[in-house]
Amino acid sequence: MSIAYERLKKAYESVRSKTDFVPSAALTLGSGLGAFADEEIDVTDIVDYKDIEGFPVSTAAGHKGRFVFGTLKGTDIKTAVMQGRVHCYEGYPVSSTVMPARLLKMLGAKTLILTNASGGINESFSAGDLMLIADHISLFAPNPLIGENIDELGTRFPDMSCVYDKPLRDKIKRAAERLGIELKEGVYAQLTGPSFETPAEIRALRTLGADAVGMSTAAEAIAARHAGMRVCGISCISNQAAGISKNILTHEEVQQTADRTAPKFKSLIAEIIRLADES
Ligand code: HPA
Repeated sequence: MSIAYERLKKAYESVRSKTDFVPSAALTLGSGLGAFADEEIDVTDIVDYKDIEGFPVSTAAGHKGRFVFGTLKGTDIKTAVMQGRVHCYEGYPVSSTVMPARLLKMLGAKTLILTNASGGINESFSAGDLMLIADHISLFAPNPLIGENIDELGTRFPDMSCVYDKPLRDKIKRAAERLGIELKEGVYAQLTGPSFETPAEIRALRTLGADAVGMSTAAEAIAARHAGMRVCGISCISNQAAGISKNILTHEEVQQTADRTAPKFKSLIAEIIRLADES
């Protein structure tokens, strides 16, 4: 057994000593969505990351560090919500940033719904738009599968030709229309941060085919697909990327737009949890 799997097993046993909850869907909350778990979930159990053996604890502002386990309000859909994630820019190895996704799989989650705030590279995107992630570019971030393969989770060379589940994406697009939520679709590029990009980097990423850029998510999606989970992702476009708008970029702007967008984001996410449960 690899060292990474031993660490995961210890984390799993830590959670299991506190709850026997088996989620069907799992959700990772990005900036602005922190309140989702408080408002949309009938809570069964909460487990703080700091109480999980060997688990990374986030330091980013606005990120709580805990799993909330419960049912989506008005349904019996068992959902695990990750409130707070860790990033490479905090100094964690990429393997630590994907521990939560892997643990959620071990706890029983079949679908992983990833959310984030990201900068809009596509010039038709405005701050406050929501983007369904169709695919990603993770060439500029470390691959989370580097190191001894965790055979218990998946194969050494996993296919990544359809990371973001197409049938689920089609359903999400129809659901957004029903809800009257405008939903863009595009390619997400992950960089490590923490500095925002330069205008030249944004032009380069656009040439490569990226529509949005952020500092999380692609690594989590890779680890989740490696472990055989169904994955989908939604980005809140919190700002136009560097060089597009005249404004300088700040974390405050990211946070403010994410907070402002939260109501429509939350209703879309609740619908996605329902859709994930249907199939
Ligand atoms: N760049 C990278 N990450 C981000 C951005 C951005 O412009 N906005 C929110 N997360």
